[in-house]
Amino acid sequence: MFDFLKKNKKPDPIFSVLGTDMHCHLVPCVDDGSKSLEETIECINTMYEVGYRRMYITPHFQFPRFPNKEDVITRLFEELKEKLKESGIPMELVGVGGEYRIDDSFAKRLENPNFLRVGDKVLVELSLNQLRMGVEETLFELSMQDYEIILAHPERYSYYNQHSETLSQLYEQGVHFQVNVLSISGFYGPTAQEKAIQYIKKGWVDYLGTDMHNTMYAAALRDATKNKKVRKILEEYKFKNCEL
Ligand SMILES: [Fe+2]
Repeated sequence: MFDFLKKNKKPDPIFSVLGTDMHCHLVPCVDDGSKSLEETIECINTMYEVGYRRMYITPHFQFPRFPNKEDVITRLFEELKEKLKESGIPMELVGVGGEYRIDDSFAKRLENPNFLRVGDKVLVELSLNQLRMGVEETLFELSMQDYEIILAHPERYSYYNQHSETLSQLYEQGVHFQVNVLSISGFYGPTAQEKAIQYIKKGWVDYLGTDMHNTMYAAALRDATKNKKVRKILEEYKFKNCEL
């Protein structure tokens, strides 16, 4: 069943300095991530080989595209934990969070909060292409309800490229930033790569996440173990993944 366990040559486990991954889409068939249990297990195996030992899984919560429900996702996560045990890969699945899109339905979530969290923090994302007004206020409201917030991949929001003052304001508000590992290696193109490194150098970034979706991302993560920019960032900067 798991033939890939034999055929891949072991990569350098450079991500052991992070130890914990806090952003991925590996509950099978619930969003645009893994399409099967086999694909999930293959991705987790790669993550183990490159050095991760603990991970959170964070499916999209985005209306109407991914109308996931917290109780269903929690049940599927528990089932996945059992299947992972059977596979023999000693990765610890620490918990299930969500990647919550700040969209029109988010105000409703705030009225009746039920967030699946990464440790004690809520992982949120914005639209990749469309600037949304009032993001600062929405996140401020969330923090007023005593939630700590992690903003996923700020380097991928192209509308902030020339206007990093909004990101600066969010950082000042106490929002934690998470950059994608694969942004640093260039997987999302040169602009995201440049911005990822720039935000890390500014000292804004607390966490690196894989944002792993499928085996294509897993292959890119293997390649990233040889990437000079990734290696340099991991050597020079401290991240807080292991505190989650
Ligand atoms: Fe994601």
